[in-house]
Amino acid sequence: MKVTVVGAGAVGASCAEYIAMKNFCSEVVLVDIKEGFAEGKAMDLMQTASLNGFDTKITGTTGDYSKTAGSDVAVITSGIPRKPGMTREELIGINAGIVKDVTENLVKHSPNVIIIVVSNPMDTMAYLVHKTSGLPKNKIIGMGGALDSARFKYRLAEALGAPISDVDGMVIAAHSDTGMLPLLSKATRNGVPVTAFLSEEQQAYVVEETKVGGATLTKLLGTSAWYAPGAAVSVMVQAIACDQKKMIPCSLMLDGEYGQSDICLGVPAIIGKNGVESIVEIELSDAEKEKFATAAAAVREVNGDLKF
Ligand code: NAI
Repeated sequence: MKVTVVGAGAVGASCAEYIAMKNFCSEVVLVDIKEGFAEGKAMDLMQTASLNGFDTKITGTTGDYSKTAGSDVAVITSGIPRKPGMTREELIGINAGIVKDVTENLVKHSPNVIIIVVSNPMDTMAYLVHKTSGLPKNKIIGMGGALDSARFKYRLAEALGAPISDVDGMVIAAHSDTGMLPLLSKATRNGVPVTAFLSEEQQAYVVEETKVGGATLTKLLGTSAWYAPGAAVSVMVQAIACDQKKMIPCSLMLDGEYGQSDICLGVPAIIGKNGVESIVEIELSDAEKEKFATAAAAVREVNGDLKF
């Protein structure tokens, strides 16, 4: 399995590190536009190999896409992250140009690649990749739900006073502060609905803190987070590499599912060797359906700013 990670910044390097540490893939190629940066990150990571016990070969290149040829999976993290007070949507102008250009280069050298889109505003960037890459829709996967669900579980465990391994929960809809839909009604502690344990005030706290999870970190760090995003991507890449058929919420092109079409939004999906093996349609309450539709309308508005 050969994986390319475009953007060797905070998130890209974290992706490469987690992928290598899990040792399921033979080769990771880091690509960046900054001269020598990807090469440097790759060398630094490779010098952890004997310490951390992995055999994955990590190399870096300054924009030479011939080095990415034959990639099975490519992760797009190139672009600018948000600064404190910014929304993900404000990044569209710069990141759309970068993502389009990167996609063309990736597909040129790896026509069968599966692309995982990370750059923000992610749902819109995933949509852009669908419109410009020519790849079938099972091969384009936006990363948002895997991270947001991890943040949801973190907040659930905190409110419950439970270990994280006790809780399960999922976030769907948009990867934005307002459009995220943490499915509290379906969250469980060892199979028991969490609503049985948490007061309404605690439930509201968990939902709100999940939705602003990225913004909270951006305020603390001065830029967006990287450990959990990198780990979330590595889980998705592993599901593909090992054909795990793992259910992961991802931003996918919808064609009637959840009442939406021609839009990328977060929905649960089975991820395996073909990328998206299938979309899972779960029953939502009327209130959840309304929130999903509102999130879709907001993403559609942002998509309207794209120029192909
Ligand atoms: P960063 O600034 O640390 O790294 C971005 C890298 O992309 C830089 O090294 C830059 O030189 C490189 N780059 C820019 N243009 C390029 C091009 N045309 N080709 C190759 N490389 C290029 O930013 P960070 O923190 O790694 O974030 C990257 C993106 O991921 C941002 O858009 C951020 O908002 C997004 N993000 C998305 C998350 C999600 O859940 N979907 C979570 C966290 C970040």
